[in-house]
Amino acid sequence: MGKGRIAGIERRRIYLVGGLCALGAGLGVARWVVTRPQPPAGHPLPVDFGKLAPGKLMTVEWHGRTVWILRRSADEIAALAGFESELLDPASEHSLQPEGCRNPHRSLRPEVFVAVGQCTHQGCPPVLRSGPGDRSEFLCPCHTSKFDLAGRVFRNGPAPANLIIPEYRFEGDGRVVIGEA
Ligand code: FES
Repeated sequence: MGKGRIAGIERRRIYLVGGLCALGAGLGVARWVVTRPQPPAGHPLPVDFGKLAPGKLMTVEWHGRTVWILRRSADEIAALAGFESELLDPASEHSLQPEGCRNPHRSLRPEVFVAVGQCTHQGCPPVLRSGPGDRSEFLCPCHTSKFDLAGRVFRNGPAPANLIIPEYRFEGDGRVVIGEA
């Protein structure tokens, strides 16, 4: 077999391996795009919360889920900055929320917090608990996971991620549409 023919076979082998690698990488990216988790959306539900006082929580049912709307007081918003060192995912890098809510208060407006009211451990409903000073939190009674008032999980419990934030948008000052970006 001549040297030229061997070089040709070698070149084809390199092209084939390169092509398979590119195909594999392409399929990997495509699979990631398809399976990447998204914040829950769809079946929009308008909710009027204009009469909700600071520090108060209201609950609605949306698409088989419990969704909270909490109007945070100025003190509660300020207190969020003090918890960061105790949190598992303070910047919400590994938690599920719309991009517009990937901020320290995990909301479109600092004073209004919207979240799915189900623990990210096994789905139990946490309860709002007033603590000393402004240290209010959500406590999951099932296995004692705790979340701050931005739904960020504290390190010392079994819940692996912050509470889920659905897609939502505001209509004026006192109405939120859950499930629509
Ligand atoms: S379900 Fe909430 S801690 Fe287990």
